[in-house]
Amino acid sequence: MISNSFDINSKGHLTVGGVDSVDLANKYGTPMYVVDEDAVRTNCALFRESIKEHYEGNGLCVYASKAFCCKEICRVIAEENCGLDVVSGGEIYTALKAGFPMENVFFHGNNKTYDEIKLALESNVGRIIVDNLTELKLLNALCEELKREANIYFRVKPGVDAHTHDFIRTGQIDSKFGFAYETGEALDAIRESMQYERINLIGLHCHIGSQIFDIEPFVTAANIMIDFMKEAKDKLGVTLSELDLGGGFGIKYTDSDTPVPYESFMGPVASKVKALCKEYGLSVPKIIIEPGRSIIAPAGATLYTVGNVKTIPDVRTYVSIDGGMGDNPRYILYGSKYEILCANKASEPKDTTVTLAGKCCESGDLIQENAPLQKVEAGDIVAVLATGAYNYSMASNYNRIPRLPVVFVRNKQDRLVIRRETYEDIISCDL
Ligand code: LLP
Repeated sequence: MISNSFDINSKGHLTVGGVDSVDLANKYGTPMYVVDEDAVRTNCALFRESIKEHYEGNGLCVYASKAFCCKEICRVIAEENCGLDVVSGGEIYTALKAGFPMENVFFHGNNKTYDEIKLALESNVGRIIVDNLTELKLLNALCEELKREANIYFRVKPGVDAHTHDFIRTGQIDSKFGFAYETGEALDAIRESMQYERINLIGLHCHIGSQIFDIEPFVTAANIMIDFMKEAKDKLGVTLSELDLGGGFGIKYTDSDTPVPYESFMGPVASKVKALCKEYGLSVPKIIIEPGRSIIAPAGATLYTVGNVKTIPDVRTYVSIDGGMGDNPRYILYGSKYEILCANKASEPKDTTVTLAGKCCESGDLIQENAPLQKVEAGDIVAVLATGAYNYSMASNYNRIPRLPVVFVRNKQDRLVIRRETYEDIISCDL
């Protein structure tokens, strides 16, 4: 199986976190998401331990909540002593309502609104990662208005090109995020921030992309960021004590993915950071990392019921399920590959090749094409694996289909953490 969260039990059923997925489907109904909470906690611990080992504990693992955000995951992340990366008022609000320690919240975004910045200041988020000069001025004006201070990082585009899908590459100069390093724009931003009394520039941030398998772009980005810290000190006399190196660690969606273990990123990056700091006479900054996908994607699965199987001779076989692009838009957006299997026939051979189709009124509503699957019929449960990240969080109500419930499994006990939307929920904002 592609992650430790999945296995097959003596009934030949898929298990998630040790719980029979067919029982879950019967109990909660399909379609539904299930997340192995034990795996999420183990992944947090891996990153935490890695920071302890490589940076003597002078760092923080900050979970990127855009991967999957709800009150319960905020509580789990807080219990795991990790921080929270948020990118919107909605994510800040969720953290607040979950009782998350707001000093460990890191607020990102390339177009934060007045209301969002106000909410961030009023709720005392720990760090605001400033993206552009308009935002810096707006933040300063709000700090004056509210008589508050803001602890900020600047988001820097280090000019590193990570080898991943075009839509999720962010470190190169042609990106909507942050200040360019190589043009001097980032240094100018630091100079500008020095005039604002209520703004404390604490550190820098970069994030080069997502689902990255190579170690080298992370090392290169860290190198550039430490070079930049030296430049800020030499040219402007500014000492930056924190460095946020973002997330982006790739995971295994199918057997053709070969991610390196998470810890493998940390060693080479830490060696580079420490060696350069020594060479430049800088103190090693507090290191922040922001994994999202790698913490939760491999822990999740989506369970669907097959409605019908349509074989078009010499063309293909469509297996239609009771969900689709509304709960998983990643195939239609990025052509993402997933492992699929029949949860109630998991030990049978996958001897058919199918297109897994959703129920939306759109031909492109596919979850997977040309995918091997056991022979299925109406009523079977199909599982799509490693859907813990960027599925629920990117879900929509297209065709007014209610969003799915989310069930967490811990110590082989299941509990509902997000209930299924109702038709009443769907019309609740309609006037
Ligand atoms: N930090 C920042 C500033 C980010 O922009 C992101 C992701 C992360 C951390 C977390 O990256 P991760 O560890 O999850 O790779 N919707 C896309 C992914 C978009 C990622 C956006 N930013 C997908 O489904 O693949």
